[in-house]
Amino acid sequence: MKKQVNVGVVGCGYWGPNLARNLRQIPECNLRYVCDTNPERLLHMRRLYPEVEGTQNFDTLLNGALDAIVIATPVRFHYPMAKSALLAGKHTFIEKPMACSVAECEELIELAHKQGLVLMVGHTFLYSPAVLKIKEIIEWGDIGELRYISARRLNLGLFQKDINVTWDLATHDISIVLYIMDEMPVSVSCRGDAHVTPGVEDVSTLYLSFRKNKAATVHSSWLDPKKVREMTFVGSRRMIVYDDVSLHEKIKIYDARVEVPPHYDTFAEFQYSYHYGDVYIPYIKQDEPLKLECQHFIDCIREGKTPRTSGENGLQVVQILELATQSLKHNGVSVPVPERRQWAGLHSPLLSTEVSEPTRVAA
Ligand SMILES: NC(=O)c1ccc[n+]([C@@H]2O[C@H](COP(=O)([O-])OP(=O)(O)OC[C@H]3O[C@@H](n4cnc5c(N)ncnc54)[C@H](O)[C@@H]3O)[C@@H](O)[C@H]2O)c1
Repeated sequence: MKKQVNVGVVGCGYWGPNLARNLRQIPECNLRYVCDTNPERLLHMRRLYPEVEGTQNFDTLLNGALDAIVIATPVRFHYPMAKSALLAGKHTFIEKPMACSVAECEELIELAHKQGLVLMVGHTFLYSPAVLKIKEIIEWGDIGELRYISARRLNLGLFQKDINVTWDLATHDISIVLYIMDEMPVSVSCRGDAHVTPGVEDVSTLYLSFRKNKAATVHSSWLDPKKVREMTFVGSRRMIVYDDVSLHEKIKIYDARVEVPPHYDTFAEFQYSYHYGDVYIPYIKQDEPLKLECQHFIDCIREGKTPRTSGENGLQVVQILELATQSLKHNGVSVPVPERRQWAGLHSPLLSTEVSEPTRVAA
């Protein structure tokens, strides 16, 4: 029986407490410390979990008897904190986005590799049973050839001061798009506007162009009255709509397509045929993605595995965000994605325990 993994969480604002709650529920994990410079946040955490030690000083975590550190601070702190954690010999989990630049991500990946430590990034949606199901359906060919993906992630707030809406909300959609496409785009363009905080875009539209005429659009907004978390996956035979706000019907598969007649002699004979068929709602086991993500981090440490959302995956997302920022500054110009040496497919295969029977849609 392997020993428990001793963990400290730094950053107890909005998201850190969710990580702490899930880590505490894992039998193989011992949440020993929570850390925040804000004494009120620390007091809140100590009231919730009096048995967990609290500190305002990150060095206490670095010098403490911990196996791992979970970083849930604002993005500008990710790189310096992760670097210190890895140098102190701790397995490291960094919330999304991994860091502020590709150069920072590369340094962290190399350091984790040298130190023989697990480096994982909090791309939570890649632990969502709905997203895994969509990947499975697409890989089994049930929607035909994937043509394009469109994503919308909108609501009122939460406004960030140091990153724009693309670095905040689009990060989730980019990670899902890369996971499904399993390749990097060839070019990125992005437009956006700052309506509330000067210089911080609160609405943006990202266009990712992939090989073989495939594409993805990602619309992100902190300035919308309705909470929308929706993605559409358009295939040559069927289409999938993923509504993350829906409780029980997160995925709907539409038997809908447009067909062009194979032969026609005159323009008058040419007619598109629109096919409207059944709508199918596959069963998805309800499980909190963050719980699965935290369990995966602990499993990777105990079993010496590379996480599904490894440093390399975190870097791919940051690379797109960096290029999106370049494009934003130049009115949405298309920026090519440079090839990287290490590129070898994005994601490690699903863990065997997670592979379920594929969803087959009636032909
Ligand atoms: N995976 C997800 O779905 C998800 C959702 C929300 C936020 N996030 C990510 O979580 C991270 C935190 O976001 P948030 O919304 O919780 O931010 P937040 O501002 O609400 O909380 C950050 C906390 O970090 C603390 N902090 C800042 N500097 C510190 C330091 N040097 N030492 C110790 N504590 C320090 C602050 O006092 C604050 O309490 C971000 O990277 C964000 O992108 C992820």
